[in-house]
Amino acid sequence: MSLRLVVMISGSGSNLQALLDAQRDQVLDAEIVAVVCDQPKASGIARALAARLPTICVPLAKGADREPWAQLLAELIAPFRPDYVLMAGWMRIMPGNFVGRWSPNLLNQHPALLPDENVDSYTLRDGRSIPAIRGPHAVRDALSLGVPMTGCTVHRVTPLVDVGPVLARVEVPVRPDDNEASLHERIKAEERRMIVAVINRLAKAANVG
Ligand code: GRF
Repeated sequence: MSLRLVVMISGSGSNLQALLDAQRDQVLDAEIVAVVCDQPKASGIARALAARLPTICVPLAKGADREPWAQLLAELIAPFRPDYVLMAGWMRIMPGNFVGRWSPNLLNQHPALLPDENVDSYTLRDGRSIPAIRGPHAVRDALSLGVPMTGCTVHRVTPLVDVGPVLARVEVPVRPDDNEASLHERIKAEERRMIVAVINRLAKAANVG
């Protein structure tokens, strides 16, 4: 069985593109069935349209209540019958009604290393401890905290932000001459590989189970 995947984006959609490329190359055990976006000007929309995917864009009006907006998104996603909903560069915290609708099959990509538990530190493979970096500015925060290593994580979304069960992570060294853009680009290169591997692993597990 190949997984049905809805991908949620807010920006450039390079992770979406990695999945689309893997699908085209027949190395993804999943079918992207729709793309959801909350930013009408996101360049990732063009990637979805170029792949001829149903593409839903529902911006959240400034100051608007997130619950009805998220409810509408959930209702628009439901007819696509996704096995997984992937927040791939989705920059909004989703309210409980949305998380509860798709959990535990709602996944998020985060451009930093998240620990297994809801704790404030992360232990690197070499045993060093660094702060757990959550929130929307994880790459910038890694630089300002001066951590030697950061990375990326794919995790299941729970009501607590950037805390759910971790499915995969990759460490990325911080270079002395890094700025936010250079570090983020190296992290994203790992994220693009990692997300294809995670989806294939979930598809395999679904087939075995
Ligand atoms: C990724 O680094 C993701 O972890 C973060 O936003 C970035 C999305 O990049 N939440 P793209 O839109 O897939 O290029």
